[in-house]
Amino acid sequence: MARIVEGAIPSPNIWNSPRTYELENRAVDPDGAVDAAISGIRPWTGGIVLDIGCGAGYHLPGFAATASKVIGVEPHSGLAALAAERCRGLPRVSVRAATAQALPVPDGSVDVAVARWAYFFGPGCEPGLRELSRVMRRGGAAFVVDLDATRGAFGTWFSRTVPSYSAPAVEAFWSRQGWQRRELDLRMVFTSRADLEAVLRIEFTPAVAEEAIAQTQGLELPYPNVLRWRLY
Ligand SMILES: C[S@@+](CC[C@H](N)C(=O)[O-])C[C@H]1O[C@@H](n2cnc3c(N)ncnc32)[C@H](O)[C@@H]1O
Repeated sequence: MARIVEGAIPSPNIWNSPRTYELENRAVDPDGAVDAAISGIRPWTGGIVLDIGCGAGYHLPGFAATASKVIGVEPHSGLAALAAERCRGLPRVSVRAATAQALPVPDGSVDVAVARWAYFFGPGCEPGLRELSRVMRRGGAAFVVDLDATRGAFGTWFSRTVPSYSAPAVEAFWSRQGWQRRELDLRMVFTSRADLEAVLRIEFTPAVAEEAIAQTQGLELPYPNVLRWRLY
């Protein structure tokens, strides 16, 4: 049984189906648009990177290729173990079981913080934002990458799956916090229809997933995202 650190927001896609979520990570953003956008704002080369809600650690090796140190934080013990296993042999990477609300890193120590597909950063995440203010180094930057539910078929399928999610409330929250935003037109590209269909089935309710599958031709689908960031 996985232990889950108190304060974690349930994440059924990766908690219940980590293998399928791995397929999703492999499919998303073959163009590297997220990393290019982050690097254009505040590169992590030579710096200390914090990946908040790192899941099974898919993105940790990429950061470690040029960062001086990478810390992955993940509240689900099973996923944190998968992330640590993935990064065995990468001495600059460590993984900690913790939440965004209680980051296990010293004050003023992080150059680049990234929370990717981290809906736990939205309305109500003020404790996590206070923690970011504590741990970020002057000159550093924190980034939140997430689905843009206001755009495209993917946004519609998501909104129907999570009717309690209010895109205008999320937008208003971030603009009150003074974070900047930029739209990212990402794509998912799969190597088989079976993988594409499996991923849509972990993201949406059964009825919405079947509609999404019927409406998607081939192996590719648009994945509209928004990048939000704050400089410290
Ligand atoms: C959709 S997954 C994304 C995982 C990873 N960022 C990736 O791109 O593969 C969201 C992750 O956030 C974690 N999470 C949930 N609540 C959290 C919190 N309060 N603080 C930090 N991470 C959290 C979940 O356990 C889950 O692994």
